[in-house]
Amino acid sequence: MTEQVKPERKGALVTGSSRGIGRAIALSLAESGMNVCVNCSSERSLPAAQELAAQISATYGVKSLALVANVASAEEAQTLVESAHVAFGRLDVLVNNAGITRDGLVARMKEEDFDAVIDVNLKGTFNCCKAATKIMMKQRSGRIVNMSSVVGVSGNAGQANYAASKAGVIGITKSLSCELAPRNVTVNAVAPGFIETDMTDALSDKQREAISSRIACGRLGQPEDVANLVKFLASDEAGYITGQVICIDGGMAL
Ligand code: NAI
Repeated sequence: MTEQVKPERKGALVTGSSRGIGRAIALSLAESGMNVCVNCSSERSLPAAQELAAQISATYGVKSLALVANVASAEEAQTLVESAHVAFGRLDVLVNNAGITRDGLVARMKEEDFDAVIDVNLKGTFNCCKAATKIMMKQRSGRIVNMSSVVGVSGNAGQANYAASKAGVIGITKSLSCELAPRNVTVNAVAPGFIETDMTDALSDKQREAISSRIACGRLGQPEDVANLVKFLASDEAGYITGQVICIDGGMAL
């Protein structure tokens, strides 16, 4: 936190990055030399987010800060994006990673469980994209990476709300990529299969075995597998890739 801001150093914001895939992405962008803003949804997860920010600064010598914001709120999302921009003097990378599940069969799904998942996964992505778009258009450069899911591409029983939100993320990605390409801003979606995090912790050993048997690589993915892909899409080298949905699932058949 004491590191002086160097405007030539790129700035990145990763939503929902106090743990799991977001955490791995924050670490890997910092490793590539970027200042990184860590975000969590509540005061409860703030200590973990602050610990990560301190680890990032100490390990990679870049600036890092932790901010609480619920991305489902347009106001909080805008403040989050603007705060990261102000802290780093620029905003080059936005990774919309924050996401939740509230699984259930459609016949039994509560309206509030449908709405909660759409609000965080889809509207949260829209809110942050909208706020970052203004900054990146003016800057005439940027990278946006949105976290979709193989479930958003293929659907999955018991996840109609989640699948709808992640399919919607693909729709935002493709539309926004057309709007921003002339300004040198790329927008892509990453669609992971089963990755070992808190989100997939609830799986029983039997479910885990059944899933692994459908994955060509024979294992669930690690957060770092996804982070490596995001790091590439966020790099200068990926400037001619936009509007794409890249599955990272070890060769899985749903
Ligand atoms: P996780 O549950 O470990 O982490 C999710 C993160 O999002 C947490 O840090 C949480 O605090 C944050 N978050 C939740 N609601 C938020 C809100 N309203 N505002 C700000 N932050 C919020 O989950 P995981 O596995 O790391 O997932 C990360 C992303 O990857 C999610 O979008 C998820 O849908 C997606 N994904 C995960 C897969 C997996 O197998 N784990 C597969 C495909 C996609």
